[in-house]
Amino acid sequence: MKLTIAPLVHPLKLQHMMPKMEINLSKIAHNVKAIKALYEAKGIQVMGVTKGVCGSIELANLLVDNGISQLGDSKVSNLRKMKEAGVQAEFVLLRTPALSEVEAVVDYADISLNSELVVINQLAQCAVSKNTVQKIILMIELGDLREGIMTENIDRYIQSIMHLPGIELVGIGANFACFGGVKPDAEKMNTLSLLAADIRNRYDLSLPYVSGGNSANFTWFTSTEEIGEVNHLRIGESILLGRETLTRMPIPGLYTDAFTFYSEVIESKIKPSVPYGEIAQNALGFYPAFEELGNIRRCILGVGFQDVFVSGLTPLLDLNVVGFSSDHTVLDAKNVNLQVGDPVAFSVNYGALLSIMTSTTVTKEYIYDL
Ligand SMILES: Cc1ncc(COP(=O)(O)O)c(C=O)c1O
Repeated sequence: MKLTIAPLVHPLKLQHMMPKMEINLSKIAHNVKAIKALYEAKGIQVMGVTKGVCGSIELANLLVDNGISQLGDSKVSNLRKMKEAGVQAEFVLLRTPALSEVEAVVDYADISLNSELVVINQLAQCAVSKNTVQKIILMIELGDLREGIMTENIDRYIQSIMHLPGIELVGIGANFACFGGVKPDAEKMNTLSLLAADIRNRYDLSLPYVSGGNSANFTWFTSTEEIGEVNHLRIGESILLGRETLTRMPIPGLYTDAFTFYSEVIESKIKPSVPYGEIAQNALGFYPAFEELGNIRRCILGVGFQDVFVSGLTPLLDLNVVGFSSDHTVLDAKNVNLQVGDPVAFSVNYGALLSIMTSTTVTKEYIYDL
């Protein structure tokens, strides 16, 4: 997909807004419709994952308006925010609850992903006391080595959970390519399918959700005719950034540029490319090294690692990010005549997206534009 170079805008227009994230709702609406159509064509329901945008109400409503009925987030506070704002969806906590947040989970999550009996028991007690039922998806460890119970413990868990008052076991799930980088390939999906079929048979459970993974499942999905029992995926990055996540390849037909980050130049000077004086640790605790390029135009942006995950930013103009500290990012402006007050545009990866959307110092600007 063509990357649009954001034009430099007159500084005065942006004076009160920077740093800012420009969020193109039209492009995300296009992406969510395309992702939904793709996966639903083989019977897979898409849960929209909002954690990358800090449970943004605007984005949550956009997903719901474009046919997503389930929203997942890893933070109960984001689920609460969306629920209290009146977003009309089923809310799912995307990670196993902490014991200390069980009550909030029962209040704000319709479903939670779980992998600890002690937590499930607390959820049960709390749900009973509130006269409600907590639906749970039991996470199975299939190799990525983050959350999930080992397969040899499935029976013990199911037997302990299935008759618990206040708990309804609505599915099993697995997660991939988040921690260990393990691919959700045909073999892993087949294992999950067989486990689901076996649990359904032996325990007479309907187990409506067999939740096979996330944006990393695109390659498996598009290369297999046989999706087995997998009928549910939890998708964030593909909707927001238009990519699968095994290699970060753009998904054909999706927008990869729905988010653009802008920061403003606060100093622009010709200076040496290499620091001079005796070198010790910098703000990040490293002994930095720089390439000798002679004198260069060094531009400082008024953002640093307390505002954004700077390593996840890619300038849309031909500039280099030389380094950063907590409140400053230093650019080599190369041949771009950047002056104080100029905005500089960047595309973002998932880490930068997440950091910017949770940042209180970055303005969020929602636009409709294709
Ligand atoms: C358990 C779980 N499922 C799904 C997702 C969504 O992943 P992605 O954004 O790669 O689609 C995440 C991460 O955000 C997750 O932790």
